Amino acid sequence: MKILVIMGSHRKGNTYNAVKQIEEHFKSIENAEFQYLMLADVNLSHCLGCYTCFLKGEEYCPIKDDATSIEQQMHDADGVIFASPVYGMNVSGLFKMFVDRFSYIFHRPCFFDKKALLITTAGGIGQKEVLKYMDLVASVWGFDVVNQIGLMTPAGIHIPKSLVLENEKKLKEAADKFQLALQRKEHKSPSLYDVLYFRGARGSFEELGGISPRDYEYWKGNGWFDKRTKYFVDVPINPIYNILGSVMEIYVRHQIRKLIADGEFQY
Ligand SMILES: Cc1cc2nc3c(=O)[nH]c(=O)nc-3n(C[C@H](O)[C@H](O)[C@H](O)COP(=O)(O)O)c2cc1C
Repeated sequence: MKILVIMGSHRKGNTYNAVKQIEEHFKSIENAEFQYLMLADVNLSHCLGCYTCFLKGEEYCPIKDDATSIEQQMHDADGVIFASPVYGMNVSGLFKMFVDRFSYIFHRPCFFDKKALLITTAGGIGQKEVLKYMDLVASVWGFDVVNQIGLMTPAGIHIPKSLVLENEKKLKEAADKFQLALQRKEHKSPSLYDVLYFRGARGSFEELGGISPRDYEYWKGNGWFDKRTKYFVDVPINPIYNILGSVMEIYVRHQIRKLIADGEFQY
């Protein structure tokens, strides 16, 4: 079992130590290889905002750094742990830079065979917001997010024993859940948001084929434009979500056609 840890802290501090505890619990159940990708140490530059990856493809990105090999490491792993401290009520800048560099994956999601675990640590507040954001990113990229944990790790004060025990319990439970989830191959049933995202994106990318051919070809190649396809992967879907998704798709297509008719998009 291969686990890749994407570490959004500059240092081997609270977040790193928390993941190390997960690793320890995990390895007490099953043999696994944990690989730590310290974003502070890799050669990954800020996105230049040129849109080349969206429109032509990520292989045309003008930045020559480790992005391709980092994406490959995610593909090679069975599971990915996304880890970031809370900085200014959000993910760290390092983590955000990582997300920005791989933003083409929001258009062309590809990790449907992977499980993800999310973890954040904060001195006091912001864990909920950060986990919500990380969940959105990982889910749209295709990951099956199996668990998310927010720890309180206050700096500069003696951490009460009860909090230490509470954090240890959360980490142990997370390791157990992650290990169990990695055993099952199927993807979980999508949430309403997941279904709406799929249907909205399908409407957009099909209607905008002339502007965004790379996305169009990717979606077409995966069979996602097929009207019988209800979601990225073949999993049971709540029928109400499906109806709401159809409404969403009709609306999105209508809006885009209107914008095209009004000359808002240039081919
Ligand atoms: C620049 C900076 C911003 C921070 N912002 C927050 C914050 O918004 N909310 C919070 O509760 N803690 C905040 N903290 C505290 C860290 O989230 C907390 O100490 C975290 O566990 C650090 O993780 P690390 O040791 O892995 O880097 C901040 C710390 C730093 C250095």
